Order: sequence, then C-alpha cells, then structure tokens
Amino acid sequence: MPRYSDELINEIFAQNDIVDYVSQYVRLKKNGRDYTGLCPFHKEKSPSFHVNQEKQLFHCFGCGAGGNLVQFVMRSEGLDFVEALKLMADRAGIILPEDDIQFDDKIYKKKKRIYEMNKAAAQIYYTALTKETEGRDGLEYLKDRRIIPNTIIRYGLGFAPDSYDYLKKRLNNQGYADDELIEAGLCVTKGGKTYDKFRARVIFPIIDLRGNVIAFGGRIINAAEKDGYKPPKYLNSAETPVFNKGKNLFSLNLAKKYSDMQCILCEGYMDVISVNQAGIQNIVATLGTALTENQARLLMKYTNEILLCYDSDEAGQAATKRAIEIITGVGGKCRVMQLRGAKDPDEYIKNNGVEMFRNVMKSAPASTEYLVKCLKGKYDLDNPDGKIMFVQEAAEVLAKIPNEVEVDAYVKKLSDETEISRDAIYSEIKKYSKRDKISAGKPRSIKMTQSSKPPDNGSKSTDAEKKLLSLIIGSKKCYQSIKDQFKPDDFSTDVLKRLAHIIYKCYEEDQPIEPAMITIQFNENDVTTVTQIFCNVEIYSNEHNTIVQLVSSIKLNRLEEDIKRAIKENDAVKLKELLDLRLKLEGKKQCQN
Ligand code: UTP
Ligand code: MN
Repeated sequence: MPRYSDELINEIFAQNDIVDYVSQYVRLKKNGRDYTGLCPFHKEKSPSFHVNQEKQLFHCFGCGAGGNLVQFVMRSEGLDFVEALKLMADRAGIILPEDDIQFDDKIYKKKKRIYEMNKAAAQIYYTALTKETEGRDGLEYLKDRRIIPNTIIRYGLGFAPDSYDYLKKRLNNQGYADDELIEAGLCVTKGGKTYDKFRARVIFPIIDLRGNVIAFGGRIINAAEKDGYKPPKYLNSAETPVFNKGKNLFSLNLAKKYSDMQCILCEGYMDVISVNQAGIQNIVATLGTALTENQARLLMKYTNEILLCYDSDEAGQAATKRAIEIITGVGGKCRVMQLRGAKDPDEYIKNNGVEMFRNVMKSAPASTEYLVKCLKGKYDLDNPDGKIMFVQEAAEVLAKIPNEVEVDAYVKKLSDETEISRDAIYSEIKKYSKRDKISAGKPRSIKMTQSSKPPDNGSKSTDAEKKLLSLIIGSKKCYQSIKDQFKPDDFSTDVLKRLAHIIYKCYEEDQPIEPAMITIQFNENDVTTVTQIFCNVEIYSNEHNTIVQLVSSIKLNRLEEDIKRAIKENDAVKLKELLDLRLKLEGKKQCQN
C-alpha cells in the first residue's frame, strides 16, 4: 500500500489527467463516454483499449490490462509504484517530501544508490577506454574486432584495466564504501580483501528500459592462462537488488524502437553490437543464460515475431529448440535464422555483409518448419522404420500448434513426403494433443504482456458477482436494496470481498467512490478485475431492477455447487438441508418473476 499519505496521493492524482498522459502513447478518439485507441500492451488492429476520463481509469477489453494512471505509468515505463508516483508528481511539479516515505523506502534508496554507483562505474570504464595509457589494450582489441568509435559511444563500452583496485579506488573516492561496491557486484571479496571484479576486460554495460545501468558484462582480451588457471571468456555481474538476469535482455533499450514487426534474438553481446553496427537495429541477446519465459514475454511486448539467431554449433541449435518451446509456450511466434558457414551472427555479417544477413532474415523458416526439418535430417526416409519414427516425432511437434489450418498444411506436406496417409498422421497427432492440450498455448492474437493475466478466469458465479458489484457502485439505491441480503463476505473471492468492503464503507460513511484511489489498493494481478468492475458500471446501469434476481441467482448457483459437493461426500443430512434451502430460494424467485 501507498508509502505516501492519502492526501499526497490524492493531490498527485488530481494534478494529472489520465487522458492527457495516455495520449502520449496512444492515439485516443472520443467515443461516447470513453476515449478509445489501440492497446499499447498487446498488438491489435481494432481498438479495444478504453480510457475513462471521469473515473480516471483505463481498461483493455482485448488483453484485460487495466487500472488507474499510476498503474498505466508502471506498465508503460516499467516502473515500480513509488517510481511511477514520483514521475507523476514531477509532471505536476509536486515535490515529494523524502520523509513521507515509510517502509519500503530502504529498498528504494538502496536501488537508487546502486543505479548511481553503476552509472559512475560505467563512466569510469568508458573514460579508461578512451585514455591513451590505461585504455590502449581495450581499444586495440575493439579495433581488431572492427568496432568503430560511434559504436563504442552508442553502447557506452568501456575498459577495466588490469588492476585489482582501479575501479574501487575511484568509487571509494566518490564516497562509495566497500560493502556497497560488493553489493552492487562491482567488487568481490576474498580473504577479507575487496578488489575489482572486472580486470583486463572490455566492458559491456547492461542498460534497462529506463536507461539505468543495471549490470556489466566483461570480455577478456587476453585469453592466456594466468596464475595457473584459465579465466572465463565473459564475466557477468551477479544478481543484485537491481539486476535479475532472467528478466532482462541485452540492448532491448536500443532495439525496442525498431522491433515492432520483428526482433532478432541472439546469444552474445558481440553479436548484437556487430549486427547493430551494420545497420540492423532490432536485435537483442540473452545474458549468457538460456532464454526464460520472462524474457520471452518481455520481448513479445515489443515485437510481433522473434527471429532466433543463435550460434550454428550444436549447443546453439539445442538452445534454439528450447527457445522455440519457451516462446510458443507463452503464445509467441518465432522463426529460425540459419547461418551457414559462420559460427555466429557476428562472424556471419563480417564475412558475408549485411545484405546476405537480411536474406537470411527474410528466408528464415517458421519454428515448426524448422523443427520438422531437423527431425527429417535425423531419420532415413527410404526405410519404413525411419519414416514411421519421423512421422511420430513430427506429430508431437504438430500437436502443439494451436492453428488448425497450419496443422493441415504440415500434415499434407508430411504425407506427401512419407507416403503415409493423412488420416494416420492425424490420429498420431491426436494422441499427443490430448496430452498437450493444456499447454498448447493461447490463441496467438491475444498476446499477454509480462504481468497481465487473462481478465480473471471467472466462473459463471464470479461473473454474476462482478456484475452485482458494478450495479452497487453505480447506484446507492441498488446498494440499499441488497446490502442486508448480500454482505461483503458473501462474495466468493478475496478480491471481490475486499472491493465490496471498500464500497460498502464508502456508502456507509457517505464518502465519494473514487475508482482511481480504490484501484491503487490492489496489486497487479487483482487490479484488472477491479478496473473491469468499475468500467462496467455504465454498461449495467439500466439493469438496476434486476439486482434482486441477480442476488438470488448467485445464491442459487452457489447452492448448486454445495449440493454437488454434498452428493459427492455422501452427506445426507447436509443434502437435505441444502435441498430445502433451494426449494425456498426457488419459491422466492418464482414470486419475483
Ligand atoms: P559466445 O562464446 O558465443 O560469445 O557466448 P560471443 O558473443 O560470440 O563472444 P566473442 O565473439 O567470442 O567475443 C555467447 C554469450 O554467452 C555468454 C556471454 O553473454 C556471451 O556473449 N558467455 C559466454 C558468458 O557469460 N560466459 C562465458 O564464459 C562465455
Ligand atoms: Mn562471437
């Protein structure tokens, strides 16, 4: 809950207008009571994103994203609550008193300090690289790899000289204590001594979507053994309060603007930099680990289609298959770039030039086609056993495709290639699809972003309860007519209970119901449900005379569930009780009709 006082938050809200703010991102058109436009949180062709000025709420009927202005800022800028509030306060010229922050303040300050420290470190590394003496080795290395000065500036590349305290000394001088340097992952400690983590390495700062330096990667420039052991080629910052490897992608800050249609995903820092330098800007890399679901979702926020461009060695191809699974598993689309005659994108583009690279992008097969092709290479199709095994494995791949037309096209092709009948292939696919049904992925048109869940997988009865709450919010009369029959705790989920408590309290205390202030009290997962309820107030407003029926049908629905349970549990006494109750309720309903 807010770490600032309610008065202050109220003031920040009052000084900012959601339509005004959202208009920076979305072309909004006035449409009845609402403004509508294309949802910035998922790809769509017709507008299902609504902003209601009166309530100061937004809601997307396509992906379910919703909330008030702070929540919009949080999602669109990738900020946490306090940061978003700060941004809104800034816009309104409100200065936030530091001492108004309560508990989470410590973490917030710590993160801020690490961001500052990282930025200072990046500057020190960059300066070192450009210095005649300290930076010579680094600069020479980059020159060898044909990195031009503009690229060094674009990525803020740097150099950590071969010293145990080059960075430490300088940051100490700027007032950062050793334990802070360790916490930020810039220094390590051994035998009670603190020394620089990165030594004799070219430095790649990792920058998040807000422009904060969150971590570093460092590449060794001289791979020779030292002191009897061979140091790793790349060193990366460990996880810190501001850095989570699995949730960030290298260079997404630069690529996001260019990635609407497609974005290349590769393995290495140098791949990204070299391809970018050749003029292809929509490219990012994972940070030295296998692709995570979080990273896939993050990337899908900015692009329609991911072009996988991993190294051509066996490890790279294995990683490609895992990445396909991850991406399609979260509802994304990908194609696979195949680099022939080069080990990675960096080498490919250097050897073949950017036009050839673009050709590989264009001709990249869809992930399914790629997977089937890989299988085909594994078996001898002149031999019946080989054919059968090929078809069985291919069926497993096809079972995961949600689109039937697509499946049909592949089945046809498969049947032509193997002379195995389409029916036989289909029945093979069926075997797997039963098993995979749950994980088969959502329809592709609905792309979920990082935090949004489908608009609550509401059952019939929670749908009715949500409608009831909309009606109550819309009219005090409705509230009064049912408040004694249906109490906040009669709602069946925690979110609905909490919201009902707040609304009932507003009515009892004669306070205005302020949607924006109320949604703020719910976390990311629940805010969608709450916003949906507020947004439906007008939609249901002409149904206020149905409220009593609504209540009894909610109760009846619940009763049905209890009855089923009693039957299952063989509880005769309970069953009798419930059946009597149902008779009574149904009688009442008859009277109302
Ligand atoms: P590669 O070994 O393919 O690196 O590892 P690369 O980018 O082609 O490097 P160059 O061209 O030799 O400079 C791919 C990525 O895996 C991570 C790094 O993020 C690297 O960019 N990696 C690799 C590590 O984290 N540690 C290592 O020791 C090696
Ligand atoms: Mn490489």
